[in-house]
Amino acid sequence: MTEPSAQPKGRILVVDDEAHIRRVLEVMLTRQGYAVDTAENGTEGLNKFAAEVYDLVFLDLRMPDLDGLTVLSRIRQADPDQTVVMITAYASVETALEAMKQGALDYIGKPFKEDEILVVVSKAVERSRMLAENRLLRTEVAERYDFKSIIGSSPPMQQLFAVMRKVADTKATVLITGESGTGKELVAQAIHANSRRKDREFVAVDCSSLVETLLESELFGHVKGSFTGAHQTKHGFFELANHGTFFFDEISNLSLNIQAKLLRVIQEREFMKVGDQQKINLDIRIISASNSELTEAIRKGTFREDLYYRLSVVPIHLPPLRERKQDIPLLIRHYIDKLSHKMKKSRLDVSSEAMDILTEYAWPGNVRELEHTMERILILEDTDMIRSGNLPTFITQRQGELQMFSEEPVSLEELEKKYISFVLKRTRGKKTEAADILGINRKTLAAKIQKYGIV
Ligand SMILES: Nc1ncnc2c1ncn2[C@@H]1O[C@H](COP(=O)(O)OP(=O)(O)OP(=O)(O)O)[C@@H](O)[C@H]1O
Ligand SMILES: [Mg+2]
Repeated sequence: MTEPSAQPKGRILVVDDEAHIRRVLEVMLTRQGYAVDTAENGTEGLNKFAAEVYDLVFLDLRMPDLDGLTVLSRIRQADPDQTVVMITAYASVETALEAMKQGALDYIGKPFKEDEILVVVSKAVERSRMLAENRLLRTEVAERYDFKSIIGSSPPMQQLFAVMRKVADTKATVLITGESGTGKELVAQAIHANSRRKDREFVAVDCSSLVETLLESELFGHVKGSFTGAHQTKHGFFELANHGTFFFDEISNLSLNIQAKLLRVIQEREFMKVGDQQKINLDIRIISASNSELTEAIRKGTFREDLYYRLSVVPIHLPPLRERKQDIPLLIRHYIDKLSHKMKKSRLDVSSEAMDILTEYAWPGNVRELEHTMERILILEDTDMIRSGNLPTFITQRQGELQMFSEEPVSLEELEKKYISFVLKRTRGKKTEAADILGINRKTLAAKIQKYGIV
């Protein structure tokens, strides 16, 4: 190997069985300031490639042991970004084209001209520098984002992290849907925490807990005397969230009146306090969340379609825990570690039987239910190994379905009645949640509750 004393312009490997070609390329490229290694057959070439990082590999197509295409495919398997240029006699241009299809950057024909070679080399080295920089940037980007608070390694969670990474630094509105307890608010906070707005406010407003008549002044603020009871000027949530992130929770509960106003604010990027003439410029990132798909609400006319599109530039759906069971053991370990640390207990183990039962359970309340369940076990059970006997009965009874079917057979109506009562009990009487689980709307559920006299 010939190594010039100054920093080489790039590292090049020449793989060719013809000594003359190796020699010509080596002399020519070394003179130009490149560091050159040579190999006289495919096997030696692959060994050198495995031991050193090259900006460019020159690869002869026709060689006695491994032919060029085989070496090319091995190289690309090891590093799909490796820049490779084929060397070929004029007769095999077709094969060279085939090599380019398989990822070679270019090819040069034998015999070759020096200036032709130098153009190809500088192009190739520049490309590999650029790829290396991109790679560095990609790892830096990956390290910069921190989604540690969100536990999960299942494919849907990995996909979630990828979307969050892409969206965090933008201003795009995000609509997060998912059942109760799947982590919608957690994801919204993590997007904020990984954005440039992280040092500004994250303002969360639960649209279902706000009184309609006050919502407008809560959101926009009001000036003193603008209505009875407005004793002093108040800054609304929008003003508090300015330059930060605004999280609209339970967005489907916004009244049509407020939806219209919100749409105007988003379009015009400015708003006024109630009773004020002065416009305030608005720079907020809006993230919204909903337990249910809004499409049904749009169909029924309770949610504006135009607002929906404004709010859901990037839609994120959080799958229920039962659809990503491989995350359950991770979450269990996470909560055991977290809670035992908090309770100053030693680290607990979980028997494999107990872990299986916990993984098989349907977790209708998702991660929140799992968190509460683990907390309850840690408080109540005095053990250093959680076994199936330490689990609450509603889990060991496998959610009660089996229990239901083990009784005397009943009519469908009777079964429906029992099942609705069961789900209501599980949601602690929360009808919206129960309707969600049952896949019917609240009105239908209310009608059935009345029909069956469920209390
Ligand atoms: N992937 C996760 N990793 C760790 N903790 C999680 C995860 N998902 C949810 N949690 C935790 O579960 C609890 C519920 O999450 P969160 O409040 O974000 O759910 P949600 O979807 O907003 O529920 P709801 O619709 O009922 O408001 C929180 O304590 C949250 O920290
Ligand atoms: Mg929530």
